[in-house]
Amino acid sequence: MNFSYTPEQEAVKGMMEEFVAKEVTPYAAQWDKEEKFPWDTVRKMGELGIFGTALPEAYGGSGLDAICHAIVAEELGKGCSSLRGIYSVQISLVAKTIAAFGTEEQKQKYLPGLAAGTLFGCFGLTEPNSGSDAASMLSTAVEDGDSYILNGNKMWITNAGIADVAVIYAKTDKNAGPKGITAFLVDRGLPGFSTKDIHGKLGLKASNTAEIIMDNVRVPKTNVLGSVGKGFAIAMSTLDNGRYTVAAGCVGSAQAALDYAKKYAKERNQFGKPIAAHQLVQQLIADMAVDIECGRLLVYKAGHMKNLGQKSTKEVCMAKYYCSEMVNRVAYKAVQVFGGYGFSDEYPVERIFRDARINTLYEGTSQIQQLIIGNFELGMSAFV
Ligand code: CAA
Repeated sequence: MNFSYTPEQEAVKGMMEEFVAKEVTPYAAQWDKEEKFPWDTVRKMGELGIFGTALPEAYGGSGLDAICHAIVAEELGKGCSSLRGIYSVQISLVAKTIAAFGTEEQKQKYLPGLAAGTLFGCFGLTEPNSGSDAASMLSTAVEDGDSYILNGNKMWITNAGIADVAVIYAKTDKNAGPKGITAFLVDRGLPGFSTKDIHGKLGLKASNTAEIIMDNVRVPKTNVLGSVGKGFAIAMSTLDNGRYTVAAGCVGSAQAALDYAKKYAKERNQFGKPIAAHQLVQQLIADMAVDIECGRLLVYKAGHMKNLGQKSTKEVCMAKYYCSEMVNRVAYKAVQVFGGYGFSDEYPVERIFRDARINTLYEGTSQIQQLIIGNFELGMSAFV
């Protein structure tokens, strides 16, 4: 067992630390306050090859391993969870799915742009009435000559308002349950396809979340992703990648909260000494540090299995479940260390606390992760 980074992983970490310190952390509060999508920074990420880190070299990526992919998400998570979410969706939920299931033509068409950050993607699974029970979706795709006609709505879709292409899941056979679902690559410009931004979110205010409306959208059959009826399995395998970078992002956000809390604890004096010298504050710091380390090890264990080409669904769900709950615990304690100041946007822990909340909800709630882990443990998963 080796707990060290390889030279390559070390280099990615160094580059990301520098990028986040210079281009992300100083601006994250402003983006949050203004609900501003960080276009300039996103473009720089594309130019520096950050989006392409874990994509195949043949399609404009760097071909680096799953740990490097996690490091990118972790470091982005330190600076801005909204930006980490933009990265996760673009790469884990869209580009990696096209790389795994797309035809050569689809890979050539979409992957270089997704890697360069000149093209954006989103993942359309959730609907107004189907979240955890994803297979109960109502969107339909009806065959018509050399096309499918798509109808339906998708809800809470990260990046949808800015995406050039959406991976849309729709029922090609209403009576076949999960086996009646097909994945499509739907380009924004198609007639009948529109999006509506969602405002008033508790956190992730710098990322775009939108509803997708499909009104008789004609999608050519060449844009079926994978094969007809295999969409649900594609969505689940996609989430094995998405949940992995959510977990890594949580580790980064939690680490940032701890770092801010440690600094503040050394500066703030009460009862004649820095609060860091009080044992109950040290206890908070110690609990945060242990919690973060546990989460990081779960992420890297899942990444190690991905690097070996092993099935990592259970380990990814463990990491997603633990880290998403952990970042909420850690952010709560960081606010506690800051006292009243932590309740104000004068310090970043207030934003980290708000941004943390979504992680136990999206890409599968904590209860869905428990369900999958429990089914695996008991040998009851359809996918064991
Ligand atoms: N990889 C590949 N295939 C998988 C798989 C995986 N990880 N997990 C399951 N499958 C396959 C199974 O093998 C099965 O196929 P077969 O019948 O051919 O064997 C098929 O998928 C159905 O599996 P289940 O019977 O387990 O499916 P289910 O209907 O019971 O659902 C569930 C299981 C775990 C509850 C699933 O519905 C689920 O994960 N729900 C949560 C959905 C979710 O995470 N939504 C978030 C959307 S993304 C988002 O948040 C928006 C955003 O923009 C970020």
